[in-house]
Amino acid sequence: PPNSRVFSLVQPTGKIHLGNYLGALRNWKEISNSDSPGTEFIFGTADLHSITIPYDPKELKQFRYEAIAGILSSGIDASKCTVYHQSSVPEHCELNWILTCLTSIGALNRMTQWKLKTKIEQNDSIFDDEIMGKTKAGLLCYPILQAADILLYKSTHVPVGDDQSQPLELCRDIANTFNNRFQSGFFPLPQTLLTPAKKILALRNPVKKMSKSDKDQSLSLYMTESPESIAKKIRKAQTDSIQGKIYFDPENRPGVSNLINIISGLTQKSIDDTVTDLEWIQDHKQLKDHVTDLIVEEFSESRHTFNQLMGDLAHIDRICQQGTEKARAIASQNIRDIKKLTGL
Ligand code: ADP
Ligand code: NA
Repeated sequence: PPNSRVFSLVQPTGKIHLGNYLGALRNWKEISNSDSPGTEFIFGTADLHSITIPYDPKELKQFRYEAIAGILSSGIDASKCTVYHQSSVPEHCELNWILTCLTSIGALNRMTQWKLKTKIEQNDSIFDDEIMGKTKAGLLCYPILQAADILLYKSTHVPVGDDQSQPLELCRDIANTFNNRFQSGFFPLPQTLLTPAKKILALRNPVKKMSKSDKDQSLSLYMTESPESIAKKIRKAQTDSIQGKIYFDPENRPGVSNLINIISGLTQKSIDDTVTDLEWIQDHKQLKDHVTDLIVEEFSESRHTFNQLMGDLAHIDRICQQGTEKARAIASQNIRDIKKLTGL
């Protein structure tokens, strides 16, 4: 077995955006391309997670392809990494059920993402009739499936954006519960590999995060957008009327701070260094032009690769087929052991 196993998925709920790239995919690329003997990498789509919210089956098919094309065009090398769709490995669901029976409803109720997605205010009970009538149980149980994904491969490291810290904590709690109950040390406790890049916010509404599942496409910046479209969206990004030098102040200047954050993510420099570098900037227009140039540059090659990949879906299918075989080899062995331990 490898010394460490790095695992992460992206939901096929829409086009890959700048937040996904800076928060996850670029990190996947960098760690999987670094010289790391004894480390195995598993990346893919969380297609089972994407059906926890209303969706269109035809669109899902398309988004699954786009997510794989997005992963590969970010620079992830399919010959070095396992790349697949979660739903192709049925053991995810088997482990999901076993872990569901080890997780308390109370623990799920504490997950803030669930609250955000159902728009439940911080202090409301989850048992509000109207919300509970509309919301599916899959959304509540979402973090358990996430834990199952990670633990199925006995993953040691999970590179994700900073919206994922809490679910990862739950995953470690579940692993601990399992280890204490059935076999000490069975699951390694997976470490969260947080990207230095902070959460990227929606361009025209910088109070919420940029998200694929947002149907309003003017809020997000997609990896495959033309330079003209990137320029237009950045031009329309919300800023403020404060004149003079730009500075980082997420509370009072969310829009400007989001742009600074994007630059910091793209250049991989700290916020402080980024602000220092931006001292030459006189106004919002210069700032926006600068952000546009950096994004256009960063995505120019991946956009090309993405379009090529989407023109050959059979090639994507082959890559996923190979990935599924590699993933299942690990998953089926682990599920056998898990069933034996749990008395099934
Ligand atoms: P989305 O919310 O866009 O559907 P996913 O849930 O599929 O994204 O998350 C895929 C990866 O992208 C995760 O590691 C997540 O942390 C990261 N991510 C998603 N949105 C952002 C964002 N706005 N800023 C930074 N990272 C993000
Ligand atoms: Na998400």
